[in-house]
Amino acid sequence: MTFEGIDRPGRAALGRVLLGAGAMGEGWAPTFAAVDRAAFLPELMWPFDTRTQKAVAVDKAEEPDAWFAAADSDAPIVTQWDDGEHTGPGPGRVSTSSSSMPSVVYALLRDLAVDEGMAVLDVGTGTGETAGALAHRCGGRKVTTVEVDPSVSRHAGARLDTAGLHPHVVLGDGAKGCAGNAPYDRVLATVGVREIPGAWIEQTRPGGLIVAPWGTHYTHADAVARLVVRRDGTASGRFTGPVEFMKLRGQRLSLPPHKHYVMDEDGGADASTTGIPEGEFLTPPYSALPFALGLRVRHCVQVVAAPHEGARAVWFYGLTDRSWACVVFREGEAEARVWQAGERRLWDEVEAAYGWWVGHGRPDHARFGLTVGPGPAGRRVWLDDPADSWSP
Ligand SMILES: C[S@@+](CC[C@H](N)C(=O)[O-])C[C@H]1O[C@@H](n2cnc3c(N)ncnc32)[C@H](O)[C@@H]1O
Repeated sequence: MTFEGIDRPGRAALGRVLLGAGAMGEGWAPTFAAVDRAAFLPELMWPFDTRTQKAVAVDKAEEPDAWFAAADSDAPIVTQWDDGEHTGPGPGRVSTSSSSMPSVVYALLRDLAVDEGMAVLDVGTGTGETAGALAHRCGGRKVTTVEVDPSVSRHAGARLDTAGLHPHVVLGDGAKGCAGNAPYDRVLATVGVREIPGAWIEQTRPGGLIVAPWGTHYTHADAVARLVVRRDGTASGRFTGPVEFMKLRGQRLSLPPHKHYVMDEDGGADASTTGIPEGEFLTPPYSALPFALGLRVRHCVQVVAAPHEGARAVWFYGLTDRSWACVVFREGEAEARVWQAGERRLWDEVEAAYGWWVGHGRPDHARFGLTVGPGPAGRRVWLDDPADSWSP
C-alpha cells in the first residue's frame, strides 16, 4: 500500500514507515488511511520528544506546519496535564491524557488480532483516535470506549462524530469495564495498569483476548500483556514487548517522600559493597532488566538520581514498609558502596534478582508471561513456563 490517496505527504510517509518497520500489520493500512490522527488532536498540544524527555507546546493557529508535522510524526503528543487542572501553553506537571505514538497504537491493534464484527472494549478513550480505528475496522456499534475524564471524553465524542465514526463513548472508570455492552471478544487498554481488573476478564468471552500495558511499580518500564481469557475465569499469556504508558487513575504510584524512609543518612543502615556495574541501572528505554527486576523484587520502587560530584546514587524504597537501600557508584571505583535499612534488605533482594536474570540468560520481555484470576490464581508471573510461576 502506497497511501497515495492521503493528502499530506508527511502522513503518507508515516504510514509507509509503520508498514516497513512491521509496527503496523498490512491489514491495518486502510484504517490508517481512513482515520487521520490530526482530526483527533486539539489546537494546542504538546508533542513529546523522547530524546530530550521534554514536551513543547504547538498551537495550530500560530504554527500550522509544525502542528501537522507533529501530528504526522511517530511521537506521543500530550493533550492534557494534571487531570485538566493545568491551563496555559507551558507544560504542566504530569501528562494525564495523550495521543499515543502511532507505532505503539498500531502494534497494539496488531496484537489484538481483532476483526470485523468483533465486540471490543477500548479503555482510555483519550483523543478518540484508537476507538475510531477500532470502529473503522469492526463497525461502530461493536466498539465501546471508556474514558474517566469528562472533558477528554466529551471532546473525543465530538471528534469521532465529525469523523463519521460512531463507537459507544462512555464516561466512567474503565477499570469497571462496561457491563451493559458485554460480552466482548477483545479488550484493549491504551493506559498502563498494575492490576488487570477482574471486570475485564468477567466481561470477555472465553477464548477472547485482553491486550494491556502492564508492569509493577518498580519503574515505569511496562510490557504489553496479551492474555487469553479461559472458561475457569482466569486469563493468561505472554508479554509481546516493552511499552510505556501513563497509568490508570486509581492505579498510579503514590510514593511517600524520601524523608519518610531515610531519617538520618547512614545511621542504623547496614553498609556493604557491590560489583554490579552502574550501567545496569542506566539501561536504554525499553530494556528488559528493569522490567525483570520489578517482577522479582516485590513492592519496591527504584529511583536513579542524577550524577553529583562524580557520584550517582540509586535508591530503592519499600512500598509496604519503610525499608530502603541506596547504592552509590563513584567514577573510577570498581566497587560501589551500599546502605540498606528497615525490615527488608532491599539491595540484597535486587542483587539476587539481578543474579537470577543473568543466570537465566538475560531474558527479554517476550519470555515472561502473566496469569490473572480470581481465588488462588491471583496474579502470577512466569518465565517461559506458566507452571513455574510466582507472585510479583
Ligand atoms: C494514553 S491516553 C489514551 C490514548 C488513546 N488511545 C487515543 O487514541 O488518543 C490514556 C487515557 O486513559 C485515560 N484514563 C486514565 N485512567 C482511566 C480510567 N480509570 N478509566 C478510563 N480511562 C482512564 C486518561 O484520562 C487518558 O485519556
